Amino acid sequence: MAQYDEVIEPLLAQLDLTEKVSLLTGADFWSVPALPRIGLRSLIMSDGPVGVRGTGWSSDDPSVALPSPTALAATWDPELARTAGRLLGQESRRKGVHVLLGPTVNLQRTPLGGRHFECYSEDPLLSGEIGAGFVAGVQAHGVGTTVKHLVGNDFETDRMTVDVHIGERALRELYLAPFERAVAAGSWGVMSAYNAVNGLPMASNGPLQSDVLKREWGFDGVVVSDWRAARSTVDAALGGLDVAMPAMENPWGERLVAAVRAGQVPEDVVDDKVRRVLRLAARVGILDGIPPAVAAPPEDLDGDAVAHEVAIRSFVLARNENFALPLEPAALTRVAVIGALAMDARVLGGGSAHLTPPHVVSPLEGLGRALSGVDVAYAVGADPRPFLPAAHGPQWGDGFTVTLSGGTTHTFTLPGAGLRWIGDLPGGLAPREVTTIELRAVFTPEEEGEHTFAVSGFGTFELVVAGESRFAGTLHPPGAGRTELLLSPQERRTGVRLAAGVPVEVVLRQHIAPGLAHTVATTLGHRAPGPAADGMIAEAVAIAAESDVAVVVVGTTEQVESEGFDRTSLALPGRQDELVARVAAANPRTVVVVNAGSPVLLPWADDVAAVLLTWFPGQAAGAALADVLLGVAEPGGRLPTTWPRRAKDCPVLAVDTTGGVVGYDEGVFVGYRGWLRSGRTPRYAFGHGLGYTTWVYEALEVGPDEAVVTVINVGARYGREVVQVYAGPTEPDPERPQCWLAGFASVDGHPGERVTVRIPLPERTWQVWESGWRTVFGAYDVTAAHALDDPRLTATLTLVPAGTPVTGA
Ligand code: BGC
Repeated sequence: MAQYDEVIEPLLAQLDLTEKVSLLTGADFWSVPALPRIGLRSLIMSDGPVGVRGTGWSSDDPSVALPSPTALAATWDPELARTAGRLLGQESRRKGVHVLLGPTVNLQRTPLGGRHFECYSEDPLLSGEIGAGFVAGVQAHGVGTTVKHLVGNDFETDRMTVDVHIGERALRELYLAPFERAVAAGSWGVMSAYNAVNGLPMASNGPLQSDVLKREWGFDGVVVSDWRAARSTVDAALGGLDVAMPAMENPWGERLVAAVRAGQVPEDVVDDKVRRVLRLAARVGILDGIPPAVAAPPEDLDGDAVAHEVAIRSFVLARNENFALPLEPAALTRVAVIGALAMDARVLGGGSAHLTPPHVVSPLEGLGRALSGVDVAYAVGADPRPFLPAAHGPQWGDGFTVTLSGGTTHTFTLPGAGLRWIGDLPGGLAPREVTTIELRAVFTPEEEGEHTFAVSGFGTFELVVAGESRFAGTLHPPGAGRTELLLSPQERRTGVRLAAGVPVEVVLRQHIAPGLAHTVATTLGHRAPGPAADGMIAEAVAIAAESDVAVVVVGTTEQVESEGFDRTSLALPGRQDELVARVAAANPRTVVVVNAGSPVLLPWADDVAAVLLTWFPGQAAGAALADVLLGVAEPGGRLPTTWPRRAKDCPVLAVDTTGGVVGYDEGVFVGYRGWLRSGRTPRYAFGHGLGYTTWVYEALEVGPDEAVVTVINVGARYGREVVQVYAGPTEPDPERPQCWLAGFASVDGHPGERVTVRIPLPERTWQVWESGWRTVFGAYDVTAAHALDDPRLTATLTLVPAGTPVTGA
């Protein structure tokens, strides 16, 4: 960093206090201001982590949508995480973004966590390795990452105020570990969480931010607050925070200047923060005359191809009875595709991770294309979505014309009737210039009958269908803040009888108070006439009974799984369980595709032929699904988190606060560490996932630094295996888990091929935290496994202080 220090010090010396503090205080939603006097341009940040939204979150400016972070972790492939990161570095550059707000490396402590889908794993090693790969990939483009949310933001209930009580050991060995790894990988940013940890709000948590992150780990980047997480002027300044975001409700600016003048905050504390901001600015190339950290970014990647590859590699084949998969198209005459999510897959999670992809391949479309020559029949079966999906499709002609007006006018078109942004408006309009937003389209119904239209969002709306006003009113829960409204909008519906083939004009007008158009989440929903719920299931059962195979896509909705709230149940919403059970009874070759970001209960799992877990699969959803179901590609995923059979079996479930506190009383027994302690059997164990070929584990040698594993592909197809290494004390120790993931690597090979892989075992494998890292000497069982519940070979390693370790089988 010396090259930066030399140029930063003279720049810092030129700044007065007000200028310095301006660089630490959000200028608007997404940026830190420019300072042209020293050649500094404005630093732009954007969410993260499945794509790069850009500053506007605007639906007229699409972004590549990769599979959800849990899916990325399900690949167990840090190299692929690096590729994903590279793509997002490239997307950041395309969108003028200098700092990407991700990755999210909080742990999956309970499956009810609302942002479970946005985190990698319940295991700190897997989370850290995937996070480190992602960081390296993004930053290879000279774009900074922001590892978030430091720390303990593992659930959403009362997230702004909750105080998370975590013991030192669990904090170090589990929750901080992925942050430590991502920082060691060189992340230029860290985001501090909303919550407090052990009594101190994270935005002003000096012990963790200044002492651990900056001093102990040597982090030389910027700690940015989560949006509106900084709520104190002096404590945050003294507690290691560097930049408070966004501009709204920001406690710094003039107040920090005053606190420095009053002697409450030493100016050298401010100087340290400014140095960090200038260093970041230099790294990302917005400080004139200073070469950025990356002179020449790597070659551009194809967004669709990366989205497709990650999806395939992330799908977890959880069950495959009698080789139901892959399907053999030549042997098929008729395939039934069933489920609301088969037509309209949920490709990404809700909340700040949300963005608008350029296009989405639905499962129905993907399978339809791949099965040309086969009769593909579709039925909704059951629709779990409480809100109607945004109107889209061929019946809507050329799509939707959107006009923003007030002071200035801007018009653009969209293929679907969903509008969403926070911050910059489409066309670069200022919020005060927009008081009306109009969506207009011509709809030519295919079916005659009662069509349902729905308005959702917040504000005052008027819906006009065929010249007649159908809804006029305000959707605005009293007292709700705009973020809450965005995360849980309301909906109103109206039924209109329409004739088939007769075009009608549909107009949705939204009136917004001046200055408030910076936050919009408006949807015009539509549903064609169709049978009621019972009839829908009967229709699906009928087509399943007449088909060779039934593919049922089930999953969660945005109202169930999103940022901003935790789940209240692990069950699939609506009547989807009943749908699967009845379809499976009608067709023994039922393949269930689960489209959920985090674990859901699968009560029918033992009664269906195959279960494929696809997470939120990103924009290539259906294309990747078709490849995997038809065996063009092998499903590469292994579970990064345990899937329970019953919710009550989970070692940690509820996130109820007591007196504003959530105690992590289970200590280090989180995820599979807790399952092993309880002795309960989950539905699918950590690391589980089948392929289309068979691997035999032939040899294992272990030392303190590595395990060497030899495997042979004894099946008839090319395939890939994730070799997992677990370690645990030979003599049970009640203070430590039975075993834990010590290392992993993926190998691939053709039929008959023998592959030997060397898997590094980090020193931490053998250590516990006791006010410092302490190596625990003694005998360990080290196991090479296909999954936690599928051990293949075990060796004993005796770790001794200074001498040579002794190994034996
Ligand atoms: C989320 C962050 C996100 C930020 C900006 C917050 O509500 O917790 O993850 O980066 O908003 O959108």
